[in-house]
Amino acid sequence: MASRSFSRALRSSITHQLTSPATQRRTLISASKYARRGLAAPLKPASVATYQQTRGIKTIDFAGTKEVVYEREDWPREKLLEYFKNDTLALIGYGSQGHGQGLNLRDNGLNVVIGVRKNGQSWKDALQDGWVPGTNLFDVDEAISKGTIIMNLLSDAAQSETWPAIKPQLTKGKTLYFSHGFSPVFKDLTKVDVPKDIDVILAAPKGSGRTVRSLFREGRGINSSVAVYQDVTGKAEEKVIALGVAIGSGYLYKTTFEKEVFSDLYGERGCLMGGIHGMFLAQYEVLRERGHSPSEAFNETVEEATQSLYPLIAANGMDWMYAACSTTARRGAIDWSGRFKDTLKPVFNDLYDSVEAGTETKRSLEFNSQPDYREKYEQEMKEIRELEIWRAGKAVRQLRPENQI
Ligand SMILES: NC(=O)c1ccc[n+]([C@@H]2O[C@H](COP(=O)([O-])OP(=O)(O)OC[C@H]3O[C@@H](n4cnc5c(N)ncnc54)[C@H](OP(=O)(O)O)[C@@H]3O)[C@@H](O)[C@H]2O)c1
Repeated sequence: MASRSFSRALRSSITHQLTSPATQRRTLISASKYARRGLAAPLKPASVATYQQTRGIKTIDFAGTKEVVYEREDWPREKLLEYFKNDTLALIGYGSQGHGQGLNLRDNGLNVVIGVRKNGQSWKDALQDGWVPGTNLFDVDEAISKGTIIMNLLSDAAQSETWPAIKPQLTKGKTLYFSHGFSPVFKDLTKVDVPKDIDVILAAPKGSGRTVRSLFREGRGINSSVAVYQDVTGKAEEKVIALGVAIGSGYLYKTTFEKEVFSDLYGERGCLMGGIHGMFLAQYEVLRERGHSPSEAFNETVEEATQSLYPLIAANGMDWMYAACSTTARRGAIDWSGRFKDTLKPVFNDLYDSVEAGTETKRSLEFNSQPDYREKYEQEMKEIRELEIWRAGKAVRQLRPENQI
């Protein structure tokens, strides 16, 4: 499918992004702040000087529904340092989120210690990132004993497994933090029944921990959900917003633990990962069965989507992407989208039912608690890597201009 006016649309999209209030707001952090953190300041659009900064909690109208959004500008670094001056953040687990959130907290100057299994992969990764054993790198129990705010970033299965050991250490006055509602919401399955006398909060970045880190380094921030499960001090909401900013969030959207975990499990199994992979495979297989070459099938299924069209949806929405395409493409896409929606909606309803019933949680706990889960997962990744579609993709990517010598 040809996207005729693609370059015109892209040019216009870039102009739009450079002049949008959101972009301008992101660039407001002064260059000196970046210099202090040893970071490169992002490029500034010319209009920054005239931009009037607006601050405060925002009630934003999302398509007719008003929602509360908090923003990073309300919590400058100095305010964060003051707010957490008596706290030690004990960050338990150093996977994708532990790495991103931990390094951002450290760069923000907060008192953070890491707790992981000694000599496991995470211990090695933490050493690599400059955490120092005995100073800010400990085993899990020792880190918890030092912490006032316990940030549980173990894998969801490990949160359940280690709970009998962790729970007695969560004494009155401490705060328990998660980045997923999984453990407390599905407590019948996970057995994570939080003590009644501590604040329990959640900041869940809407993206990988690698992105949490890379956006922070670019002077931007990831979108995160924030929620309060239990507020015994009356300060839980304020605390989670401050902590959400400290880990590297730009905008924080208020939700509940239950809504966060339901939407997250549903989304990743659907459009974000599982559903999109299934759709790619179905389209590719039909093209191959109908005599198209691997390169043609891959280009028409994945490469054009990710390189040309999805970035247009990201920039300005679906109508913007349609507008960038030929009249022929538009007509067919509008006609067929309804049929895809009607066919797929029952599948999405089944998926939501499965999430709500705890079936997805049960499966995740069972699979990810096995001692050889990493090996089994690697075997599944190998099978995906070796599918013809992804082998063809590797060859196609090598032809991208940036991959040419
Ligand atoms: N990844 C994301 O994109 C993402 C996004 C938003 C929220 N979250 C949430 O953030 C939390 C952390 O997820 P993640 O993806 O960063 O980490 P993860 O890869 O799921 O978990 C890795 C960590 O768990 C530790 N671990 C595993 N089994 C253990 C056990 N039996 N005892 C002690 N430690 C154990 C690992 O240590 P070893 O190296 O020693 O095995 C490692 O430090 C989860 O609640 C997740 O749902 C993740």
